[in-house]
Amino acid sequence: MKLLNLRLRPIHLTLKAFIAYKVRSTMFDKLLYIETFGCQMNVNDSERIVSTLADLGYAPTNDPASADMILLNTCSVRGGAEEKVYKRLANLRIYKRDGKKQIIAVGGCVAQQEGEELLRKLPYVDLVIGTHNLHLLSDMVRGAERGERRSETTFIDNDQRLDLFPSIRGESRLSRFVTVMQGCDNFCSYCIVPFVRGREISRRSADILAEVRQLAGEGVREVILLGQNVNSYGLKTEREPTFAELLRQVAEIEGIDRIRFTTSHPKDMSDELIACFGDVPKLSGQIHLPAQSGSDAVLKRMGRGYSRGTYLDKVHKLKALRLDIVITGDIIVGFPGETDEDFEQTLSLMEEVRYIDLFSFVYSPRPGTKAAELNDDLPRAVKMARLNSLMELQRRHTSEISRTYVGSTMTVLVEGEGKLPGQISGKADIGRIVNFAGDSSLIGSFVEVKIVKAYPNSLLGEL
Ligand code: 5AD
Ligand code: SF4
Repeated sequence: MKLLNLRLRPIHLTLKAFIAYKVRSTMFDKLLYIETFGCQMNVNDSERIVSTLADLGYAPTNDPASADMILLNTCSVRGGAEEKVYKRLANLRIYKRDGKKQIIAVGGCVAQQEGEELLRKLPYVDLVIGTHNLHLLSDMVRGAERGERRSETTFIDNDQRLDLFPSIRGESRLSRFVTVMQGCDNFCSYCIVPFVRGREISRRSADILAEVRQLAGEGVREVILLGQNVNSYGLKTEREPTFAELLRQVAEIEGIDRIRFTTSHPKDMSDELIACFGDVPKLSGQIHLPAQSGSDAVLKRMGRGYSRGTYLDKVHKLKALRLDIVITGDIIVGFPGETDEDFEQTLSLMEEVRYIDLFSFVYSPRPGTKAAELNDDLPRAVKMARLNSLMELQRRHTSEISRTYVGSTMTVLVEGEGKLPGQISGKADIGRIVNFAGDSSLIGSFVEVKIVKAYPNSLLGEL
């Protein structure tokens, strides 16, 4: 399961989500086409956008030609993102021809970065919505319906932001994101996130717990605590609990049977939080812990705030507490000055951790970041060769680990129909997708499934 994957393809709303919105009593008289790029934060924002616009009468569609509004929710974590957005917008504008009244909007990190420039350069773009400005969306769309063009990219002060955190809506789903913090103060030398998502802020724990209780009341069984760096939750606010304490409080809420969180920074992975994997049974046995590199020299230049040794210590502690824990990660190859030896260190870190899934990226300089000033002189061919050997090693690890599951029994939260007729599908505690023959009346319950076959991205089971 690609919990933290930076997706390269746009993510379309599922039919299930569409039906869920339909079921709500809103009257729809317009269509919204939305493409989401990037991380879970954007996926979550898109859900919020769809939900907000449903109140204005927009139903989601997968067909841009028939849409009254097209929105690109963009990501700028890696290079070329801006050009890709400009290209995609140029392609989408064809639907606006023939005098058709269609709103074109850009949201997310590229919108934040480019701002008014997008309106200036592209006359067919109507709205630019920055990462802190989603609360203005309804107003902006109403204006655009009257022909107004508008860009809003002002960062909001932390004291005001606390009241602007996304609140949940009424779709009935089994697994929901709950935002616990936003932004990032880490300024890793390669990363644009702190510039486009703004300063770190932790949401009030009372609000988080109230939201989880409400979700439990609506039949949600699993919550995914979401933030750019969840394990630094509360560290800068005296009155709030630590993330580990928050997690224990969430675990006490009746009706919620499984908790996940994403994403974690290894430097903030405290012993207190690691201990939760030993004694909070509701906590999922999967953790995303991005190492970025296995070389101390590279980690230092990246400004990550931990060494290879401390990272591995944490991994070993986690494995000692939960023998079946599965770890996923992110690695950047070809960071400026990365030598063959540095890269070997990364491969050896992978051998020691044995990730079940790894999201690997070729380094790309981002404007305004510290690393962009370093000499990015590694030939492209070297970077690609490193990426390929890393991916090959990962494929081996994924397949070796997955094969060990055959014959074991996993507790699966059944979330919907499977790929094949007669199959249902859900997520195991370790986050893997499991498909198996079963009746759709089981959707919404936890069942025990015996694993009979392992595929690279999913498992096949029997009830
Ligand atoms: N170049 C390549 N990869 C990057 N990431 C973040 N910034 C860059 C960059 N400039 C990767 C990191 C991060 C993931 C979300 O994206 O691995 O964990
Ligand atoms: Fe970027 Fe580092 Fe913050 Fe993650 S922790 S969002 S990599 S600056």
